[in-house]
Amino acid sequence: MTLELNQIYNMDCVEGLSQLERNSIDLLLTDPPFGIDFHKVGSQYNRKQKELGKMYHEVPASDYYEFTLSWLSKCHKVMKAEASGFIFSGWNHLGDILNALTELKLRIINHCVWKFQFGVFTKKRFVTSHYHILYFTKLKIKDDKQRTFNRIPEYSSSPGKLYFEDVWRIKRDYQKGGEKTPTRLPLAVTDKCIRMASNEGDTVLEPFLGSGSVVLSAIKYKRNYVGFEISEKIFQIAQKRINSLEKDLNSKDKSLEFWLNQDGK
Ligand SMILES: C[S@@+](CC[C@H](N)C(=O)[O-])C[C@H]1O[C@@H](n2cnc3c(N)ncnc32)[C@H](O)[C@@H]1O
Repeated sequence: MTLELNQIYNMDCVEGLSQLERNSIDLLLTDPPFGIDFHKVGSQYNRKQKELGKMYHEVPASDYYEFTLSWLSKCHKVMKAEASGFIFSGWNHLGDILNALTELKLRIINHCVWKFQFGVFTKKRFVTSHYHILYFTKLKIKDDKQRTFNRIPEYSSSPGKLYFEDVWRIKRDYQKGGEKTPTRLPLAVTDKCIRMASNEGDTVLEPFLGSGSVVLSAIKYKRNYVGFEISEKIFQIAQKRINSLEKDLNSKDKSLEFWLNQDGK
């Protein structure tokens, strides 16, 4: 069975990825579980909320490399020859992700750091206030011209110049009301990855949806998407966010159409 585009699925991604068409994905943009114990290391990442344990699906540290290899090798198969990807990681298992990328001969282009404005105040160590983002491609160096890298002035590190630093200073969202998910990526981060590394009409894959920020950015910027989330509760949160964005966009389109039709009448 082949799964449909522009849908999200409440299932284990390792199973789901086997049902995607080969060579169909332009951009992998993913934020996998970090493999951390929330009651110890996790607390540094501000991921210790009470509800977390109930709905969030973690991976034991001892299985992390095997786990990474299993989902990443399946992603490799569905990625197009000219595809690229971003993987978010804490520092704890960064080595496992780097090793899995090397094992699969995926070429790392940048090791970016997302610096956020606060971490959890620790008294006897430095406060963790960054994530790693590994940017990589399937392309060999000789074919690198085929890689999409849109130099969008808005993201430039120096006004008037088109260069882009590998440290991204972007604030974490303050989640007001509604259902909160502890690991939600701000759309400012997912928007940037999608706008710089894919084009309209491309297909973006997120095997670890969480609350669905990657899909929201894909919809906003007219990319196709497909994604998986193993936890039913978190899946429902993602689906709700997607439905509400789509409703919003549709109603804006309608009002725009209305005003355009009124023009000159
Ligand atoms: C770091 S979170 C993603 C957060 C997301 N970026 C957001 O903006 O909310 C990782 C997610 O992967 C899910 N997960 C863990 N193992 C999975 C698997 N095998 N298949 C699909 N989802 C999985 C977890 O339940 C969790 O919601």
